[in-house]
Formats: sequence, C-alpha cells, structure tokens
Amino acid sequence: MPDMKVNLAGMTMKNPIVVASGTFGFGREYNEFFDLGELGGICAKGLTLLPREGNPAPRIAETPMGILNSVGLQNPGVDAFIKEELPFLRQFDTKVIANISGNTPEEYGIMCDKLAAAGVDMIEVNISCPNVKAGGLAYGTRPDLAAEVTAMARKHAGSVPVMVKLSPNVTDITEIAKAVESAGADAVSLINTIRGMRIDVNTRRPVLKMNTGGMSGPAVLPVAVRMVWEVANAVKIPVLGMGGVAKGEDAAQLMLAGATAVAVGTSLFADPYAAIKVRDELAAIADRQGLASVRELTGGVKPW
Ligand SMILES: Cc1cc2nc3c(=O)[nH]c(=O)nc-3n(C[C@H](O)[C@H](O)[C@H](O)COP(=O)(O)O)c2cc1C
Repeated sequence: MPDMKVNLAGMTMKNPIVVASGTFGFGREYNEFFDLGELGGICAKGLTLLPREGNPAPRIAETPMGILNSVGLQNPGVDAFIKEELPFLRQFDTKVIANISGNTPEEYGIMCDKLAAAGVDMIEVNISCPNVKAGGLAYGTRPDLAAEVTAMARKHAGSVPVMVKLSPNVTDITEIAKAVESAGADAVSLINTIRGMRIDVNTRRPVLKMNTGGMSGPAVLPVAVRMVWEVANAVKIPVLGMGGVAKGEDAAQLMLAGATAVAVGTSLFADPYAAIKVRDELAAIADRQGLASVRELTGGVKPW
C-alpha cells in the first residue's frame, strides 16, 4: 500500500482526507458510525466569538447533484467549543482544525488567541462571511481586507498554523490567494460554497428564507478543480482542496491539480462513511498507479 501520510503547513496527517467545516458538526454524531481517528483531520463547525442562532428556516435545499444552504454559522461560540467540544475531539488520533469567522479583524485575533492557547492543531480562517467595517462586503472578495484579517490571525495564532479559506465568489481567486500568502498565511483552503438561488415556481418564493444560499456537493467539483489548479500555480503555500468530493477519483483530481490534502463535505450528508471511502479509494488509485506515496499525486497534472 502507498504511504498515505501528508504534511500540510507543518501539520502531519496520517492520510490526506479531512472533513469540511460545517458538514461534520463537532464529530459527535459521526463517531457513532466510525472511529474519528481514521480521518487525517477534522475541520470543526465554523465558530464565532459569541454564540449564533444562524439564519431562519428553510435554510437547506437540494439542487441537481448538490445542495444550497444558508445555515448562517449557527454555533455555540468559541469558548463553548474550547470547553465542551475540543476535549471530546482530542480523544481521537486525528488533527483538529478550528474554523473561525469574525465581524472585525479584532474578533479574528481574539479567537486565535483563545484557540492557540487551547491547543488546536490548525486554525482555518473563514473569510467568506459578511463583515461590518467594509459595509457588508465579504472579506474574501477584497485582497486588502483578506490580507488584513490574515495578518491579524497570524499575529495571534502563535505557533499554530493559519490556513485561510477562500471564497469562489470572485473574479480572480489567485489575487486573494496571493494577498493572504503575502500577509503570512501558512496554507489556503478552497473552495467555500458558490452563491446560488432556487425558486419554487408554484409559490413563486425563493426556496430559502434568505433568498440565496451557498451551493456545494458533486455539481461544484469542476469549479473546485479549476480554482485549486489556478491557486496552486499562483502561490507557494500548500492547498487544502475541497468542493464536491464524493469519490477517491475526485480527491485524486484535486491533488493532481495541486492540493496537498482534500476535504469531504456535503457527500457526508448522503453517506456518513463518504470520507473513509474516499480515503480507501484514493489509496487504491495510488496503489494501481504504482506510487510509493500519495504525495506524488500533488501537482501531478500534465500540461497539454
Ligand atoms: C451546511 C453547510 C455548512 C457549512 N458551514 C461552513 C462553515 O461554518 N465554515 C466554513 O468555512 N465553511 C462551511 N461550509 C463550506 C464547506 O466547508 C465546503 O467548503 C463546501 O461545502 C464545499 O465542499 P463540499 O462540496 O464537499 O461540501 C459549509 C457547507 C455546508 C454544506
């Protein structure tokens, strides 16, 4: 069998498969299906400084080969995570990645202070959420603001690696990637959800209460592969690829495009074992191709 170990910005994982933030809660439900120590890592549900109720329902709807969600960062807050959830996750032989969203750069800094002191393995900085200072624009769509948040997180994260999660809802994702790299990001993860909308023709109302939502699932895989490829060619820091991964072959595509590791998200809703299956299928592909290590896939796409 090929060596499945990978190193993501100094964090060594037993295999390249992690679960995507917001699709795995804090792992308690999935722990009833399999040992969480089977995973390379767990990106925990997105945290904010204070607890949040999230958006009103309906906030999840199906689309062809995907879903639209407008959950809106429902979470118990960073302090409750550190007190209640982190000790649970720490029981397992897997890496714990905390995912954070703030209203201001200062809030990102405070959360990084707390999480670094609590001893998470990595902090994933979600810059795809609305903010106050920039008048409702998302940090992830402006290079200057993305850099400001990254610098703040980096300053407060101590020795914990900082991975910045990029939004696909931009004209040129490489501009944001380069901006966060220059500001000190240790890694980038992509893609977050793609903004979309569905309308009920009979009621004539949007199916989501918030009108629009973020699209994810197998339908977005080609967008993710394209963006990972663009970003991996634009920056030197490692990439965690995600978006629509349901099979080992999907994970292999993201790695060939340049990802060091891969997250499985929406597929978990249809099959709680999806991440384990992706890991095993990825190992089988590497084995069939005669690779000594799965790492040989990263960036291995051949130019025409
Ligand atoms: C219900 C739901 C909640 C999510 N919550 C978060 C979140 O809190 N923070 C975050 O960075 N991404 C969040 N995401 C985005 C996923 O982590 C992932 O980037 C995206 O869904 C693409 O991967 P997938 O197609 O495998 O799901 C969420 C996605 C879904 C479907």
